[in-house]
Order: sequence, then C-alpha cells, then structure tokens
Amino acid sequence: MRAQALSGQAGGALEDIMSITPIGGRLFDGSGQKVTTATLRERKLRHDPITCLTAYDYAAARLVDEAGLDMVLVGDSLAQTMLGYENTLSVTVDEMLHHVKAVRRGVKNALLIADMPYGSYQVDLKDAVINATRFVKEGGAEVVKIEGGEKRADLIRHIIDAEIPVAGHIGLTPQSVNVMGGYKVQGKDLSAIEQLMRDAVALDRAGVACLYLEGIPREVAAMITAEVTTPTIGIGAGPDCDGQVLVFHDIVNLTFGPPAKFVRRYGDAAGLITQAVQAYRADVRSRQYPSDEESYHLPKDTKAALGTVMERKRAMRR
Ligand code: KIV
Repeated sequence: MRAQALSGQAGGALEDIMSITPIGGRLFDGSGQKVTTATLRERKLRHDPITCLTAYDYAAARLVDEAGLDMVLVGDSLAQTMLGYENTLSVTVDEMLHHVKAVRRGVKNALLIADMPYGSYQVDLKDAVINATRFVKEGGAEVVKIEGGEKRADLIRHIIDAEIPVAGHIGLTPQSVNVMGGYKVQGKDLSAIEQLMRDAVALDRAGVACLYLEGIPREVAAMITAEVTTPTIGIGAGPDCDGQVLVFHDIVNLTFGPPAKFVRRYGDAAGLITQAVQAYRADVRSRQYPSDEESYHLPKDTKAALGTVMERKRAMRR
C-alpha cells in the first residue's frame, strides 16, 4: 500500500502515505481522524475546544481513545493513581515507560503525550534529550511533557532539535511541590502573574506544541491563552483555555479522597467495582458461583470411559 501511494497509483498525497504509518502496536488505517500537533494549532485558531484525559494502561487508553478524546496524557500522576505513592517525585523513567507502552497499544487516533518524570530532565541537558528520546523510541509517545517555565526554554529547544515535540506545563507544577510548599494555586499576586506570563511567552517562543496550565486563576489563564500562539490546556485553570485536561481516576471516582474544586465526577467506578467484587465474593461463599453452565464438561465418550475405569478401580478395592 505504501509503494502504491508512492507511485501515485493510490492517488496518495503525502498525507495519505503518512496515514498508513504504524503507530506503536496499532496500525493507523485512516478510520477516525489521527490527531497531530498541527491539529491542536488548527483547533486553537478555530476556537474549537481540545479534549485531553490521562490514561495509564491499555484498557483505559482504549476507552479514552475510542470515546474520541483528542489527546491522551500518560501523566506522572500515575505515581499516585496507579502506584499509590504520596506524590509524583519518586516515579522513574522505566516505570513511566512501562505505562506509556501499554497506553500506546490502546491508542489509535489521539495524540499521545508522555510526562517526563522528576529527575529525568532537571539535572543534565544531554541526559534529558536521551530520556526524551526513550519515550519516543521505546514508548511510542508523540510528545513529551516537561514542567517549568522560562528556565526550561533552552532545554525544550534542544529536545525539539532532536525532532521531539514538547508540551510545556506551568502554574501548579506537582514536581515542585517541595519548593511551592504544597499544592497551592499559583499566580495570585501581580509579581506571580508577571512571572507566569514570562514563562508562557518563553515556552511559546521555544516552540512548545501545547502548554498545560495547572492551578491558576481563570483570569490569568485567559490572559496567557490570548497572548500565546500555542494551544493552552487547562486543569484547574478555568474555561477560557483552548482545551481541558482531567485525570481519568478523578472523573470516574477512583481516587479514594475528596476531589479538588475543579474536578467534576462523571461516573462512579469505585461504586460499580465494589458492588461487582462484593457480589462475586457472596456468590463464591454461597456456592452460587460457578454454575454448571459456567463449567467445562468432558466429551460423552471420555465420560463413559472414565466411568468404566472408576468402576473397575472401585471393584478392585473391594
Ligand atoms: O501528571 C498529570 O496527570 C498531569 C496533568 C494533570 C496535567 O501533569
């Protein structure tokens, strides 16, 4: 098919050739619309809201992708949601990659973004590029996400030079929890707002594919969104961003705690799962599971032969 498109027999423009490129384990076959970084820019220009959710495993990735979300983010929030850590600081590149690979196998159309974890880009520029490359080569990510403002602009340029699109992330950046002194809304006074504007403009100039805005007043998010050419994706940043992201576990109630102010619950997976698990337990305890219909049976001939063998054994024992 690729050769046909190249020779023009399939009438293929360059876009057609690219559309049959295998992405991770799943072949993009033209069904649905593959979202790219260019799609995000077009959507900002058209004021067409961009949708993003996190996913950390194959099943959730498939559900999110098949529901038509534009972007799937393998966030380092998986440290808490999937691995039970207190914060995101301890998750490693290898742990992240384990999840990115699973998500890659479940995502067909959405743009796949992978978070670079704490320590994988703060120490050494060369190591940062090598780590970013691993997310693309081994994980199949299409974009890597990095926390921090203007101080990351140079690093972001280097990663983009390695042909890897980068998503920025400013405001409440969870990897800076110890510096921020907790998870606090950022950008609440004039000097903090000025810094956020400088951060946003620096990352925009560095060429980020999109900019995540977390935990900032909606007025500040609106100003940034109007100022930068890159699409802004908000979480706890109000309705004026170019798109929104939420954590999968938050929207389906799998987080075991009171949600943040900006979280809207769209389902109760915890309730559903608990009900199912309790019903299963009760059925096993009362011997209602498994039933005869849920059991495998011997073929008639084998059953008859087995009956004869057992009868002979019983007779010998007498
Ligand atoms: O790790 C994550 O899930 C994130 C989003 C909340 C933006 O960074």
